[in-house]
Amino acid sequence: MLEKVLTEEELKIAPSSFDVIGDIGVIKIPDELKKKEKKIGEQLLKFKNIKTVLVKEGKVRNEFRVRKYKFLAGERKKETLHPEYGCRYKLNLEKVYFSPRLGSERERIWGQVKNDEKILVMFAGIGPYPIQIAKNKDVIIYAIEINPKAVKYFKENVKLNKVTDKIKIFEGDVREIVPKLKMKFDRIIMPLPKEAETFLGLAKLVSKRNTIIHLYIFANSKKEAIKKIDEKVKILNCVECGTYSKEISRYCVDFEFK
Ligand SMILES: C[S@@+](CC[C@H](N)C(=O)[O-])C[C@H]1O[C@@H](n2cnc3c(N)ncnc32)[C@H](O)[C@@H]1O
Repeated sequence: MLEKVLTEEELKIAPSSFDVIGDIGVIKIPDELKKKEKKIGEQLLKFKNIKTVLVKEGKVRNEFRVRKYKFLAGERKKETLHPEYGCRYKLNLEKVYFSPRLGSERERIWGQVKNDEKILVMFAGIGPYPIQIAKNKDVIIYAIEINPKAVKYFKENVKLNKVTDKIKIFEGDVREIVPKLKMKFDRIIMPLPKEAETFLGLAKLVSKRNTIIHLYIFANSKKEAIKKIDEKVKILNCVECGTYSKEISRYCVDFEFK
C-alpha cells in the first residue's frame, strides 16, 4: 500500500508492521519519513477495520506505563473497544497501558489455571489478565492497579464481560494493598516487566507451598531473566513473550518459592 505514496528509497526505511487496537491503527514512523506521515496514515485507513490512525510518540513513561500518541488520520479519538480471545476491553490509549501483542501470552496463562483457584493479579491495568481468566474458569481473583483511569476502565470492562462476581478490584499501590489482604493465593501474576522482581518480597508474603508465580521481566536472555530472581525458587518455565528493544526481550518466568 505504501508503494503508492513512498519512493523506493523511503520504502526501505518504512515500518513493515503496525498494531491494531480496536479500530485504531498505531504506527511508529522514523524521523526521515515524518514529512510523509499524513500520507502513510491515509493509506492505513484503507483497511476496513481501521477508523483512526495514531503515531507513537516518545517512550512509555512513569509508573502508569503510558505514552503519547499523535493523531494522524480518520476519526479524531483515542478511545476504542478491543476484542481479544472472546473478551472486549474498552480503553483510552493515552491514559492507560495496553498491549494487543500479549493476547497469546494471556492465553498461555489462563490455560494453566484450574477451577477454584484463588488468584492475585498485581499491576492489573484495564484488566485483561483477570478478565480472560474469569471468563474461562471458576475462580476468585484479587486485582490491584494504581492508575485511577485504568481502574475506571477495568471496572467497566468487568461489567462488559460479565465477570463482576469473580473479580475484586483494588485501586492503589501493591505495596500498601498486598500486606493488608492477609490471605494466601494459589497463583500470582506480576505483569510489570520493568521492575516486577523488586516486588518479590510482597509476592512471598501472600504465597504458600505450591503457589505459582508468573513474573514478567525485561532481560537479554532467558538465563539473565532467571538470574534476576534473587530468591530461592523452583523454576517451572521461562518463555519469551515480546520484545522491548533490539537486545532486550520480555520474558515470563513461572516459578514456586522453595
Ligand atoms: C505493564 S502495565 C500492565 C497492565 C496490564 N496487566 C496489561 O497487561 O495490560 C503495568 C501496570 O501496573 C501499574 N502499576 C505500576 N506500579 C504499580 C504499583 N506500585 N501498584 C499497583 N499498580 C502499579 C501501572 O499503572 C500499569 O497499569
